[in-house]
Amino acid sequence: MTTPPVREGSPPLSLYHLLDPEVLADPYPLYRQLREEDPVHWDPYLHAWVVTRYEDVVNVLHHFKADRTPTPERLDELGMGEIAPIAAVMVKQMLFLDPPEHGRVRRLASVAFTPRRVGVLREHIRQIAGTLVDNLADKPRFDLMAELANPLPAIVTAEMLGVPVSDHELLKGWSQDFAEMLGNFQHNPGRVKKTLQSVEAMVVYFHAAIIREASHPTEGLINALVTAEVDGDRLSEEEVVANVIITMVGGQETTTNLIGNGVLTLLRQPDQLERLRSDPTLLVNAVEELLRFESPSQQTARLAPARAILGGTRIPEGDAVIAVMGAANRDPERFSDPDHLDLGREDNRHLAFGWAAHFCFGAPLARMEGQIAFETLLARFPKIALAPDEAIEWRPNLGLRGLTGLQVVTS
Ligand code: HEM
Repeated sequence: MTTPPVREGSPPLSLYHLLDPEVLADPYPLYRQLREEDPVHWDPYLHAWVVTRYEDVVNVLHHFKADRTPTPERLDELGMGEIAPIAAVMVKQMLFLDPPEHGRVRRLASVAFTPRRVGVLREHIRQIAGTLVDNLADKPRFDLMAELANPLPAIVTAEMLGVPVSDHELLKGWSQDFAEMLGNFQHNPGRVKKTLQSVEAMVVYFHAAIIREASHPTEGLINALVTAEVDGDRLSEEEVVANVIITMVGGQETTTNLIGNGVLTLLRQPDQLERLRSDPTLLVNAVEELLRFESPSQQTARLAPARAILGGTRIPEGDAVIAVMGAANRDPERFSDPDHLDLGREDNRHLAFGWAAHFCFGAPLARMEGQIAFETLLARFPKIALAPDEAIEWRPNLGLRGLTGLQVVTS
């Protein structure tokens, strides 16, 4: 990929700048510029339309095509045949399907992810968060990402799937590699080999887990997907593996970022933190506001259907469109004073979990994990603060916004 020329005074308008550490640290001025100057912007460096207004992002998520994974033949044409095994998994994942296939897979998967199951997980999440935070009791300083934001969703995910909890670090490593595919891979061709190895290892691991389910059934999602049946229809083994993988990745990277970004945001705004401490009934609203304010999943992609018009601009059929939820969530046409964090904000229909048919499948679980993580941490550490002189480093990923580490002090 060619790097956009940076002209003094007026850098070209491109989402590509998110890879600059300064822009990555605070992408919101770039989003504002896009929204105000060119809300439906052709980004020549990303070869895609970049859409930043709330109304247009909703339109894209509602009406544009999710089926965007290139076929193995197309990958060969593009000289990217080596990633065909990854594409073979992605084409079966609900995130990349359109009707009627999408509805079929999502319906079968929903059978596996009932409110009752989420309710059972609630008590486990409390215990897991409690144990992780107990282990920190004597530490005057620690890395919140390493100690809580990474392991909590990884352990919960292992429990949710029904695989041994002792494998959670393995799942976390794979999930981070796959997230590179979702958020970034075209900008990091050097990482393709590692991602490929991880996808191959995951496929072997989950096929083995499916075989194990036959003799030792668990209560987890894998078993539920294997046995799910609606009107005689069932998922094939390949479909189970592909959708276990997307659920595992979707469930970990984003929830890690909700916890990390949320704690950073609260520690940077002590007045809001105090507000939450003095009124715990704000917790549910607070998680929604933190999701809006520093959305863990900043953008997603779609392809334009026939006769697509966005904000008065005609989009040719099949063109790639990047819907930037992180920008829409700061759109002043939709949210009053959008750059202000207001933990009590009402009317907060943010797009952090997407919109319409692909609205996040795991949103109830993610909300619950976020609420429990913030509640447990704040209760245990009344004086928690950012470690002084510690640089805040964001992961260089265009789509998934999260920290590499977050040093905090507790006294
Ligand atoms: C804070 C945490 C989370 C955030 C911000 C988040 C965000 C999102 C977003 C934005 C989408 C829609 C993407 C699109 O339309 O292209 C999505 C879909 C999805 N999420 Fe999440 N997610 C989170 C947690 C979870 C969890 C815990 C799980 C699993 C239990 C999960 C599983 C999924 C799946 C399977 C889809 C695809 C749904 C479909 O295509 O129908 N996510 N998520």
